[in-house]
Formats: sequence, C-alpha cells, structure tokens
Amino acid sequence: MGDDAKRAAGRAAVGELRDGMTIGLGTGSTVAHFLEALAESGLQVRGIPTSDATDAHARTLGLQVLSPDDVDRLDLTVDGADELTPGLSLTKGGGGALLREKVVATMSDHLVVVATPDKVVDQLGRTFPLPVEVIPFARGPVARTLVGRGYDVVERDGRTDNGNLILDATHPDGISDPVAESAALDRIPGIAEHGLFIDLATVALLGDDDGGVERRTAVR
Ligand code: A5P
Repeated sequence: MGDDAKRAAGRAAVGELRDGMTIGLGTGSTVAHFLEALAESGLQVRGIPTSDATDAHARTLGLQVLSPDDVDRLDLTVDGADELTPGLSLTKGGGGALLREKVVATMSDHLVVVATPDKVVDQLGRTFPLPVEVIPFARGPVARTLVGRGYDVVERDGRTDNGNLILDATHPDGISDPVAESAALDRIPGIAEHGLFIDLATVALLGDDDGGVERRTAVR
C-alpha cells in the first residue's frame, strides 16, 4: 500500500484527540502524516516525541514538546507498527525508535496504532524481523543468545538515538508465543528493549489507498 493509505490513517488519528490532552508522538512515515494533521487542527495538545526525528518534525510544525520527566501519565500515544495481529499485538522498531516508543507507550492510557491493512498478520515475526536494541558492550553475548533461541541475526548499520545498536532477528517459524518470547527477551542482560509490544495497543486505524480508514479495537 502506498503513502495515501498511510496519510489516511495518520490523519484519522487526530479524531482520537481532545483539547488539553498530553500525548505520545510516535515515529515513522505514518506518524509524520499525523503530526501534520495535528498541527493543522489547532488542537491544544502537548506531546512527548519518541525519536529525535519526531522531535525535530514536531518543533518545525510548532507543536508543544515535552520530555518524560515533565508528566506522570499520557492520555494516549499515536504510533505506527510494522506488524499487528487481530488482538493488536505488535512488532515495532523498523525505524529504530522502539526503546523510546515502548517507554512512551507504557506511560499512556491508550496506544492508537496508525497503519495499513497489509500489516495485519496472524503471527508476528513472519513478514518483518524483530528489532532488538542492544547496548554495544553486549553485542556478542546477546547475538549468540538470540542465535541459540533459533533466530538469524543481522546487525543494522548505525546507532539508535540512545547510542545503542539494533540486531534484526528473524525466526524461520515466526514468533509462536509473543507473550512468552517478550518475557524471555526482557530477561536477557544487555537487551535495552525489543520490538514486541504486547497488551499495549487499544485501537488501530487502518488506512487504505482510497482514503478510507477502518477503526479496530483490540480483540483479547
Ligand atoms: C519506528 O521505530 C517504528 O516502530 C515505526 O513506528 C514503524 O516502523 C512504522 O513505520 P512506518 O509508519 O514508517 O511504516
């Protein structure tokens, strides 16, 4: 699906907002459309960006930007995804912002996902590798541990906004039990964060190339 579908989804997310909200600002090409629509809307909201790129874009648009130190809770976050299931479990991190994205999503009462229908999958990890953010010191041990868990591992070029590296981990069978896999990855020292977002998303807005948007809520 093309950029028109992403634009439809991103712009529709403004309909989830109310004046005075404090929100999380996700990262990616779909969220970029949301930011532009938010700026045009004139709504008075303040937002915590999940990446340096989103921070710069939001400031350019004249949006009010906060840091996680400034607030206890967020009303909602609008963010993209690389894959989503009907229960709204997600893989995220294609843009490398997964660590800040999960911090902000976890601060939020709701996570509104803006995406396209071709990203809906029955099983995570089959159409997109799982991004794993790792502190540089732990690259070797974490990579070996992931290989031991059955993943093929490719290190991404460059560093994240946090100075870490990303290992893109592909499992030939996909991720059959995302809850268990998420918990297992959480326990590996040196992993700063991984791209499995479980029980966080509450709403998905799926845009199509004709400008239509389907609103889904989590089936759990
Ligand atoms: C950023 O790290 C990602 O989690 C993005 O939200 C995700 O890759 C979706 O990006 P697009 O909206 O550009 O497809």
